[in-house]
Amino acid sequence: MKLIEVKDYQEMSQVAADYLLSKVKTSGNLTLGLATGGTPKGLYEALIEDHEQNGTSYRHVSSFNLDEYIGLPRQHPNSYYQYMNENLFRHIDIDSENTHIPSGDAADAEKESNAYDEKIRSHGGIDIQVLGIGSNGHIGFNEPGTSFDSSTHVVELAQSTREANARYFDSINEVPTHAITMGIASIMKSREILLLVSGEAKQEALKKLVEGSISESFPASILNNHDHVTVIADEEAFALVK
Ligand code: F6R
Repeated sequence: MKLIEVKDYQEMSQVAADYLLSKVKTSGNLTLGLATGGTPKGLYEALIEDHEQNGTSYRHVSSFNLDEYIGLPRQHPNSYYQYMNENLFRHIDIDSENTHIPSGDAADAEKESNAYDEKIRSHGGIDIQVLGIGSNGHIGFNEPGTSFDSSTHVVELAQSTREANARYFDSINEVPTHAITMGIASIMKSREILLLVSGEAKQEALKKLVEGSISESFPASILNNHDHVTVIADEEAFALVK
């Protein structure tokens, strides 16, 4: 695991954007795995700024998102479908046909989950997966205790995750209780992983990731078994790492 320490959130976002852009500019077809949440917003802003200023094209880029809430229609302001449109897709020239997000309002969520892994596989897999980390070590919505062998599946969200995400809703009661998430095994199949970590709330998680043992009680720990992981974290997040 390669660790890159940067000053702050802004630098983390720019370093991540520069890294992705170097791939976008030099690859033939490129498949990105994308995350939502607060962490990658600055990265997406930097990609948009570059697209507007330098015209970097995404016509050859496809994407697969990590997860989606169950029970929110696509057009709901808090669906990850909307998040991706608002925070990235509608500002760049990626073909919407090439962007993939699990459907949270599918009639059969289990079927949707199984089909998602097959879609990724038949597409040729993910070249670079962008990840954030939950303070409990979750990646995607794979909460502590999730099997390292899990493929895309339906999850019940941990109360701590619902509380952390309640900031985007009017009240915690509106935060969905379930989601579809790429599984740990699905994430580990990505050829490369870029994990972004920022701020005090992630200090313990980063310490456990770097210094702790590999255990299903801390899902992100599995990343230590992947041979191409880059962690870009800011000084605040690094504070407890020896
Ligand atoms: C988002 C996702 C989650 C977040 C994590 C951190 O698609 O899968 O694992 O990356 O909850 O969220 P933030 O960035 O809001 O702290």
